[in-house]
Amino acid sequence: MHMFIFFLLAALLAVSSAADISATNELMEYETVEDLMSSPNAELALAARERRVHDEWLQMKDGRRLWTRVVLPRGASFDDPTANVTAVIDRSPYGYWSLEVIASVYLGQGFAAVGQDMRGTKRSGGSFTIWHSDADDGEVTLDWLAEQPWSSGSVLSFGASADGLASYTLLDTAPEPLDAQFIIWSSSQGYPIIFPGGAYRQSLADTWMQDTVRPYDADNCIAELKTNEAPNPEWWEPLNMTVANDDYEVVRWPSLHWAGWFDIFLVGQLIAFDGYKNHAAPGNDNDVKIFIDPLGHCQAAADEFPRHTIAGRSALPLLMSFELYKSTQTGKPFGNATDDFMKYRDDIKDVTFYVLGANEDTAAGNYWTTLDSFPDFTPTKFMLDAGGKLNKSEEPAAETEPVSYAHDPADPVPSIGGSNLFLPCGPLDQAPNKDREDMLWFETEPLEENFVITGPMMANLKVGSDAVDTDFMVKIMDKYETGEYKLLQEGAVRMRNNIFEDMEADRTYEMQLDMWNTSYVFSPGHSIAVSVASSNYPRFSNNFNNGKTLIDETLEEDAEVATNTIMPGSYVELPVVSLRDLPRTRVIEEINELYEEHAMMGVMLAESLAKK
Ligand SMILES: *[C@@H]1O[C@H](CO)[C@@H](O)[C@H](O)[C@H]1NC(C)=O
Ligand SMILES: *[C@@H]1O[C@H](CO)[C@@H](O)[C@H](O)[C@H]1NC(C)=O
Ligand SMILES: *[C@@H]1O[C@H](CO)[C@@H](O)[C@H](O)[C@H]1NC(C)=O
Ligand SMILES: *[C@@H]1O[C@H](CO)[C@@H](O)[C@H](O)[C@H]1NC(C)=O
Ligand SMILES: *[C@@H]1O[C@H](CO)[C@@H](O)[C@H](O)[C@H]1NC(C)=O
Repeated sequence: MHMFIFFLLAALLAVSSAADISATNELMEYETVEDLMSSPNAELALAARERRVHDEWLQMKDGRRLWTRVVLPRGASFDDPTANVTAVIDRSPYGYWSLEVIASVYLGQGFAAVGQDMRGTKRSGGSFTIWHSDADDGEVTLDWLAEQPWSSGSVLSFGASADGLASYTLLDTAPEPLDAQFIIWSSSQGYPIIFPGGAYRQSLADTWMQDTVRPYDADNCIAELKTNEAPNPEWWEPLNMTVANDDYEVVRWPSLHWAGWFDIFLVGQLIAFDGYKNHAAPGNDNDVKIFIDPLGHCQAAADEFPRHTIAGRSALPLLMSFELYKSTQTGKPFGNATDDFMKYRDDIKDVTFYVLGANEDTAAGNYWTTLDSFPDFTPTKFMLDAGGKLNKSEEPAAETEPVSYAHDPADPVPSIGGSNLFLPCGPLDQAPNKDREDMLWFETEPLEENFVITGPMMANLKVGSDAVDTDFMVKIMDKYETGEYKLLQEGAVRMRNNIFEDMEADRTYEMQLDMWNTSYVFSPGHSIAVSVASSNYPRFSNNFNNGKTLIDETLEEDAEVATNTIMPGSYVELPVVSLRDLPRTRVIEEINELYEEHAMMGVMLAESLAKK
């Protein structure tokens, strides 16, 4: 979990040093990775010497106290009512590292750096609430900060991953002092992340709770999640920011959303961006930007996208974060606020992302594009036809018949790659599962030309089963000429959490699977491939086909082997665009070159930590 923080730290340092911030320059003097890792944080140490650090056990509405550290920038003091300092806050369950990132970087830009241990984590009191208290806890904290003598009254939110979830929950209280949000690899939605299609993302949720939350709380939190496997709108509400609920109408501040195509949170961040961009308070709509790198949390797959990235990343979003935060100070809009960013103003539009491609030198993908908005696409159906054919068509081939396979919970399909955190992640080759008898595979003829998709993907399955409950899981892959099947995205549906009754043996159910999103160029000679199965373990918990819920202690007893059937007319739908819709920009590559030396240190740090 900390590896991306390290990357961020070094990438942030790279950006700030280029901006010639003398305060952070001293941090650049560590010559080796070991030096930097073992060194005290110079800027924080200086702040401590100068009594610019204050720790507060800040009281929340219910009396619980959360550990909060405020570090003022150089020259400011706590009792100076003319200091007029704006704070950047990170509320985190991971403890001190998050604050150090902010402190090292934004402190040097004249902002106060504030870190708070979320309720029930590290030094703070209370129990972890699965982000149910963060809208309130955040509001209390932001209001308190704004009232401090040194404060400008303005507070800016910073948050990666779990911290970003806490930041997104602020939509529920929209604290008055909140003036900007920079949210990295995170989501404004809980259910589609933890229960995509109603299937429990076991490895992600269980392991995260056990690693992050106090042991007693972790058990309770896992049980609470499992209790709400059927989408109970009341329980999920604090993690369910939707346009339908007008959740985004409160947004009146600029924001930057940094996502990743193979990130664990991707779909929830794209939904958030749409909300901030298109459904915010009137007049705010242009001050929202998104940046999508290939990988998000999935640093381990950096070798898959070596072209025009710094290990699957870019230094640009950090540069943009300075611009975002400074825009709240200059009164000029996000995109026009700082000299550094002005250089790039015309080259960086609101929607910037990496166009993925095969990991081959000849691939037309693997470059950056920047656009005013996501491109329009043509939803295009590919039928799951007889003989394992995937055919671009509105109708199934005449000879297509129902196909069945047995799903035995005792022998689930093993997970291989995808948007994972604790399991191997990224576009890994699925060929090791190819000969399994509990999977169906479909593929197109080799493509004659580049086939380009950008946007949401969907699978529509007509299914049946002889069990009362089961799962259906679909993967979309790029089949290389070498025979590898590289995973692009996947979707799931757990029947009981969608139909809310037992399945009937002779009935056909039409189920829609959200396959998340991508931007990808399939190369000539490659095929589009799709697999269907009823398990993907331990990415998803196993379905024992007996209709029992996750909290049922007898869940694994009376496990059934299900015979599951895919009917003719099942298809996947892909968002087709053309390469012309995705023009290449070289500015991001130039920025990467400019900052490469320092950013590489971040890569080394990330790799050394990943080995631990
Ligand atoms: C989230 O809110 C939407 C809109 O009200 C609702 O349709 C959906 O069921 C909610 N999701 C969950 C998981 O509660
Ligand atoms: C305080 O700083 C803000 C920018 O954050 C600026 O707009 C305002 O004029 C400043 N106020 C004073 C009294 O200096
Ligand atoms: C942004 O800056 C450019 C160049 O200085 C200027 O022409 C433009 O009007 C500015 N736009 C806004 C919205 O301030
Ligand atoms: C694919 O679909 C088209 C259009 O429906 C049809 O004409 C063609 O026969 C199908 N190809 C195969 C191999 O089934
Ligand atoms: C991503 O997918 C979701 C779910 O299908 C959809 O609502 C959203 O519009 C998509 N966004 C993009 C940019 O593809």
